[in-house]
Amino acid sequence: MYLFKRVDQLREFLSSARTNNRTVGFIPTMGALHDGHLSLIKRSLAENQVTVASIFVNPTQFNEASDLQKYPRTPGKDLELLAKVGCTVAFLPEVSDMYPPGLDTSLSLDFGGLDQSMEGEKRPGHFDGVAQVVKRLLDIVSPEFLYMGQKDYQQQLIVRSMVQQLNISTTVITVPTVREADGLAMSSRNVRLTPELREGATILHQTLEGAREKLSQGESIDRIEKWAIQALSQPKFQPEYFTIANADTLQPIPANDPLPERIVACTAVWADDVRLIDNLMLAGQL
Ligand code: PAF
Repeated sequence: MYLFKRVDQLREFLSSARTNNRTVGFIPTMGALHDGHLSLIKRSLAENQVTVASIFVNPTQFNEASDLQKYPRTPGKDLELLAKVGCTVAFLPEVSDMYPPGLDTSLSLDFGGLDQSMEGEKRPGHFDGVAQVVKRLLDIVSPEFLYMGQKDYQQQLIVRSMVQQLNISTTVITVPTVREADGLAMSSRNVRLTPELREGATILHQTLEGAREKLSQGESIDRIEKWAIQALSQPKFQPEYFTIANADTLQPIPANDPLPERIVACTAVWADDVRLIDNLMLAGQL
């Protein structure tokens, strides 16, 4: 596996690697890699000749300094995992190279409401930071395919919208969430859960599954959302939101309207001081 820490080194490598119609698949990460990330990398390896994974804890997408500081960092282990799955290139840039003085990386995009609810509402500025770093990384890597995880459902819609608005020639592929045996979505934050919280955290997936069942039985969305908030309110667990929405626009579904073909439920829950998110398609495919 090649390891690059500087933008110019990676660019030089890719310009020579890109010959003979080879395609490049790219997976942006913030490290603390787990099987969820590895599933994106394996998918890219199966579909491209060159797979680039970046590890960069992007300061501009954290709206709370303490969250940035507490974010798990395990670069040694991450590199081992990437090498083991056969990733072609690991890219670990410095902040100064990603955001060099004089380079304007700001964006002014209209996400058509995709960024207004849920994570966008609870973490002001978060999606501006995500769009900024993903745009910068796409400028550097210019991949044919960009692999994003379903676990951050709203994020992958925002990135799709950015790619479309800026007419970037990359195809975004969303890869299904990888779960632990008991249903908990894999997340870099899971390592911060105590054994007790880890056990209780299955409530997120159970509640999402419960919501899917209730919707299929004709229960109203409003009642399901209220039921879910109650179900998630357990000792040491505090739901921030449980939202059922149109899976393409993330707009709420009015009570008397026919149901859209694709419906998603998304939730964020505090497990003590660890913030967990998860989602499930309640109708239609990913
Ligand atoms: O999902 C993440 O880990 C980050 O938001 C991303 C896409 C790597 C951008 O920093």
